[in-house]
Amino acid sequence: MRIVLFGPPGAGKGTQAAKLVEEYGLAHVSTGVMIRDAIKDESPLGLEAQGYVTKGELVPGRLIRRMVEDVIQQADFDGYILDGYPRTIEQAEWLTEYLESSDAALDAVISVKVDPETIVERLSRRRVNSETGENYHLDFNPPPPDVDPSLIIQRRDDQPESIRKRIDVYHAETFPVEEFYRKLGVLVEVDGDGAIDDVFDRIRSVVDQIEA
Ligand code: AP5
Repeated sequence: MRIVLFGPPGAGKGTQAAKLVEEYGLAHVSTGVMIRDAIKDESPLGLEAQGYVTKGELVPGRLIRRMVEDVIQQADFDGYILDGYPRTIEQAEWLTEYLESSDAALDAVISVKVDPETIVERLSRRRVNSETGENYHLDFNPPPPDVDPSLIIQRRDDQPESIRKRIDVYHAETFPVEEFYRKLGVLVEVDGDGAIDDVFDRIRSVVDQIEA
């Protein structure tokens, strides 16, 4: 199964991807996670990417393409969820060609729809485990009491100014990708509002249809 989880910042892509991994044993390919790991490791890519991420801008595509290519090859072109990629038309065009040349086109692009107010509320209340990368929400999915509180941090790009910038970038550069996949006939829209498990039930019914 080859799926893209698509949506604005804070739509719940990472949260839902973790549940899909658990339920279907798919590999989670998150460009955001890969970039944050590179920043933590202070690799050349991380050092170059850091400024873009903190400001809420997109990292240049040339830095990410190779990483995506590698992980898809490692997954043998199957059994993965792409989260955070593609997020420009250029990335979508490249990915489509790359997958089709290996006869491994996407099964579905699941677009998670949420209201703009929900995005801001979710991102400003998000916390992450700095060791495992696990996502929490202070109200709806709080960090478990047995996790060392010093490990629970706020992402640098979850500051109000970066959030605003990421939303602007999403509308200008990423949203058109939805229409690109609609024209290819693989786009499925899912309501991302409501409880995490309810959203997951909606996504699961899409995935089960692909499997059937
Ligand atoms: P990335 O990490 O991909 O960030 P994003 O797309 O902005 O998405 P988020 O991680 O913010 O949100 P999400 O949809 O995963 O929501 P989550 O599940 O955490 O990218 C970060 C940066 O890296 C980019 O800005 C860019 O600089 C760079 N980058 C990455 N990919 C790139 C690319 N392809 N090209 C160029 N640059 C790239 O949920 C959010 C919060 O809400 C959490 O607290 C969660 O617990 C909570 N929550 C989730 N669902 C619910 C629910 N149903 N009800 C209540 N709370 C919920």
